Amino acid sequence: MTRTVYYTATTLDGYLADPDDSLDWLLRQPQDEAEPQAQPDDPQADNSQADNPQADDPQAQDAAPSRKDPGDYEEFIAGVGALVMGSTTYEWVLRHESGIWPYRLPTWVMTHRELPRPVNATADDDLGIRFAQGGVAEVHAEMLAAAEADSDADAEGKDVWVVGGGDLAGQFAEAGLLDEVITSIAPVTLGAGRPLLPRRLDLELIDTGRNGAFITARFRVVGRLLEDREAADAP
Ligand SMILES: NC(=O)c1ccc[n+]([C@@H]2O[C@H](COP(=O)([O-])OP(=O)(O)OC[C@H]3O[C@@H](n4cnc5c(N)ncnc54)[C@H](OP(=O)(O)O)[C@@H]3O)[C@@H](O)[C@H]2O)c1
Repeated sequence: MTRTVYYTATTLDGYLADPDDSLDWLLRQPQDEAEPQAQPDDPQADNSQADNPQADDPQAQDAAPSRKDPGDYEEFIAGVGALVMGSTTYEWVLRHESGIWPYRLPTWVMTHRELPRPVNATADDDLGIRFAQGGVAEVHAEMLAAAEADSDADAEGKDVWVVGGGDLAGQFAEAGLLDEVITSIAPVTLGAGRPLLPRRLDLELIDTGRNGAFITARFRVVGRLLEDREAADAP
């Protein structure tokens, strides 16, 4: 099933970027090296099973903390079929990549303005970038269609990535269209900046991990904050 996921990094005090849209604090954090996938005929794959005394004990496996990192970017992006981002994030990506668009996936950029196109876009190839404005429900329906078109017939369905910023993720949550938040929490506080998710929501923690300096966490979006729902329902 296609999920709509807000996947991002944040400071410990809940900022995506500093007040000047700098991500220097993020880009200097150490991350784990990506581990090569073990192949079925890789002798090391067999050894790791043999060396693991819990490998044949289902109870021990249940009790053992998951070593899979819910924030693993390579695994996440491999399951993504469409992206959406706000104009500040789009402009940051262009600045950071010297004007070159790094994604090869259908992307919706939310803006009320005319924005520059990437230097690698041509008259024949818009690199899958569409500019949109207004309510997110219509954009979401188009994204789902694109993600489904990108899915194998027998696969579970590709996900939709809400890249950010926080208010845009909030618009999806308010519309009841955000399924999950996956965040990598950096050991940094900024005191001010672009907020992670400026809404009142309940979330359920469903997985945690660690990658280098980051705590990674995956949450299911439950909905509006319980206290707000109760106040709205009170006679
Ligand atoms: N830490 C991370 O992993 C991470 C992830 C994502 C982003 N970031 C950074 O965090 C910052 C986020 O910036 P931000 O908070 O300003 O958010 P943003 O979502 O990137 O940009 C907000 C802008 O998008 C446009 N917009 C949003 N919703 C719209 C809608 N429904 N219709 C039309 N336009 C809409 C508006 O601009 P206009 O109409 O004026 O164009 C709005 O001011 C950026 O610096 C970005 O690089 C960091």
